[in-house]
Amino acid sequence: MTKNILVTGGAGFIGSNFINYILPKRDDIKIVNLDKLTYAGNLNNLAPVFQNKNYTFVKGDICNTELVDYIFRKYSINYVINFAAESHVDRSILGSEIFFKTNVLGTNILLETSKRYEVEKFIQISTDEVYGSLGPSGKFTENTPLAPNSPYSSSKASADLMALSFHHTYGLPVVVTRCSNNYGPLQFPEKLIPLMIINSMNNKKLPVYGDGLNVRDWIYVLDHNKAVEIVLDSGAPGEVYNIGADQEMKNIEIVNLILKALGKDESLIEYVKDRPGHDRRYAIDSTKTQTELGWKPDYVFEEAIVSTINWYKENQAWWETIISGEYLDYYKKQYKS
Ligand code: NAD
Ligand code: DAU
Repeated sequence: MTKNILVTGGAGFIGSNFINYILPKRDDIKIVNLDKLTYAGNLNNLAPVFQNKNYTFVKGDICNTELVDYIFRKYSINYVINFAAESHVDRSILGSEIFFKTNVLGTNILLETSKRYEVEKFIQISTDEVYGSLGPSGKFTENTPLAPNSPYSSSKASADLMALSFHHTYGLPVVVTRCSNNYGPLQFPEKLIPLMIINSMNNKKLPVYGDGLNVRDWIYVLDHNKAVEIVLDSGAPGEVYNIGADQEMKNIEIVNLILKALGKDESLIEYVKDRPGHDRRYAIDSTKTQTELGWKPDYVFEEAIVSTINWYKENQAWWETIISGEYLDYYKKQYKS
């Protein structure tokens, strides 16, 4: 049976990697990619599938009820993967309204429409940030109470809980994934890893927040997307699946590793004012996803970070257009400057 999948936010980092990964290898899948093309969306990311007969792009907003309804009807959508979001914590600190519009209201519109059209599965791409911050030990499991700390993570937690409530109340076959920090090609250079790579290459300062000892649990984007594929095929309705690769790193360790790989000096590091409300540590326990769905991460951080750095070296044209535009205005406005 063909799966007619509405992928939202498919022109962003993880969504475009997902479409480029899954479409060429599956002939039982048709994808309609609905993306508003915000500052973070980039159609060039999808060059590998432009000609694919099973790929359709629609420019639009998940908050547009009529458009979303039209897409479900026209393309007989029976699966939804909701990647669309405002995704950057720092931006949510500068202004939270769009985060609640897109992440909460937009998800609600997708859920209501999915209920009307009786979709077979709705995958809500949530995040480990909904769990809040950890001390030096322990890991987030699917049973850890949600305790989001930023406007971004609280909007994602709202969407996550609303999606689960649609399963509980209406029996909508919702599955929620909560993944840790992704890295890899096509990531918008406002996030730690691409920002540090590109600044190093340009001999610009590397702004490290606070003491640089905050910990994130890193996963290569393809490992995340392989998990999403397995959830699409086998995830059980009403369930939450944590996704992570057990690769905890302090921010400063990553910055030093990037500098070393690019042959640059540590003098580029600049410790700056901390992010307000900065979560100290994330670590994800993905035992349930591994045992119940048979997924496991394949990429080792030390190797995949090198190929990621090489990708940014080889794809200067991709990020040059980005950092010369709106991004620079945002960067100047950051609370830290
Ligand atoms: P991104 O910012 O790179 O991409 C977001 C995409 O959504 C963009 O293409 C943008 O144009 C689109 N979009 C934004 N608002 C929209 C709207 N109203 N209607 C339609 N499209 C809209 O984000 P990403 O890093 O690829 O993250 C994708 C999803 O994964 C998000 O839901 C995020 O919360 C979640 N997530 C991200 C990470 C990570 O490390 N990046 C980890 C776990 C979960
Ligand atoms: O954990 C999953 C989340 O990971 C996703 O839900 C979010 O969409 C994604 O943006 C990411 O959130 P983080 O806030 O962890 O990622 P970011 O790349 O913004 O920051 C990673 C760490 O690096 C964090 O501790 C803040 C720090 N940092 C970040 C930037 C941009 C710096 O020290 N300097 C910087 O310039």
